[in-house]
Amino acid sequence: MSQMPADLEQAILDLKKERNAVLLAHYYQEGEIQDIADFLGDSLQLAQAAKKTSADVILFAGVHFMAETAKILNPDRVVVVPDMDAGCSLADGCPGDRFRAWRAKYPDAVSISYINCSAEVKAASDYICTSSNAEKIVRAIPEDKEILFAPDKNLGRWLMEKTGRKMRLWQGSCVVHETFSERKLVGLKERYPEAKIIAHPECEQPVLDMASFVGSTTALLKFTISDPGKQFIVMTEDGILHQMKKASPEKEFISGPPQANCACNECPYMKKNTMEKVYLALRDLEPRIEMDATLRDQARLPIERMLALS
Ligand code: 13P
Ligand code: SF4
Repeated sequence: MSQMPADLEQAILDLKKERNAVLLAHYYQEGEIQDIADFLGDSLQLAQAAKKTSADVILFAGVHFMAETAKILNPDRVVVVPDMDAGCSLADGCPGDRFRAWRAKYPDAVSISYINCSAEVKAASDYICTSSNAEKIVRAIPEDKEILFAPDKNLGRWLMEKTGRKMRLWQGSCVVHETFSERKLVGLKERYPEAKIIAHPECEQPVLDMASFVGSTTALLKFTISDPGKQFIVMTEDGILHQMKKASPEKEFISGPPQANCACNECPYMKKNTMEKVYLALRDLEPRIEMDATLRDQARLPIERMLALS
C-alpha cells in the first residue's frame, strides 16, 4: 500500500473538501469511518441521501450493492468505494439469470426484491424494499396478486408473519445474521434477565421469536434511545453498537452470540473497508462504480417505486 499520511483522518477531511465529495457510511462500518462520515444510516436512508446529494463525488463506505444503488440514482456523479470486493452473501446467492428464470415461472406475480441484490436482479424486479420499508411495500401490493420475494428467506418469512400475506420466497440468507445461536442466546438471557433482546429481521425465526423488538439498523438504534430499558442484547452486526453506545452511554449493549467462538457477528464484507482504503479511494477516485446505461435505467424504476412509497 502507498505511503499513508500521518494524520489519516485530517487527510480524508481535506480530500473530501478538495474533491467536493460526500462520504456516506453504513452503520456496519468501523467506528472510525462512521465518525468521519457526512451521512450515516441504514440502507434506505443511504439510498435517500444518495438521491439528494449535490456533491461531485460520492464515496460509499458500505457494500457493493449500496454503492451500485447510489450510482443508479446518480448516473452523472462519480461513485467510488473503498474496496470493490465488499460484496454481500444475499446478493451473491441470487444470480441474475437464475432470478429471471424463477420470475418467468410466475408471469402474473409481482416481485419485490430486498435492496441487498445486484443491479441485474433489481432490473428484473417490480419493487425494491429495505428492512425499514418492506412491510409497507408488501402491504401496497393488491391482495389478489401473488408476491415473489427475494433474496432473503428470513426477512420474507418474518414479513409473511407480520402481514399475513403468503409469498413465494427465494432461499437466500445473510451469513452474519444466520450465525447467531439460539442456544447461546438463551444462556445469555439467563445471565442478563433484565436485558431486552432486539434483532434485525435477517435473523432466523427462533431468534426473532425471542426478540422484544425487530427492525432495521436505524429502527434498532432508535429503540435503544427511546426505550427505558438499561440493557440490550443486540442481534445484528456489531458495528451498530458504536452508535448505540454513543447515543446512550449510560446503557449496556451486549453483542449477539455467534454459534462458534469467532467474530462472525462482524460482516466480513463491510469490514473490508478501512480508513486507509477510504483515503486512497478519495485520492485516486478509484475503484469506481461503472454501469451499463440500459441496465442502470431498468434497475432505477423499481428503486424509484420504493422511494415514492417510503
Ligand atoms: P439495513 O441497513 O436496512 O438495516 O440492513 C442491514 C444490512 O444487512 C445491510 O446489508
Ligand atoms: Fe450482506 Fe449480511 Fe453483510 Fe448485510 S450483514 S452486507 S446482508 S452479508
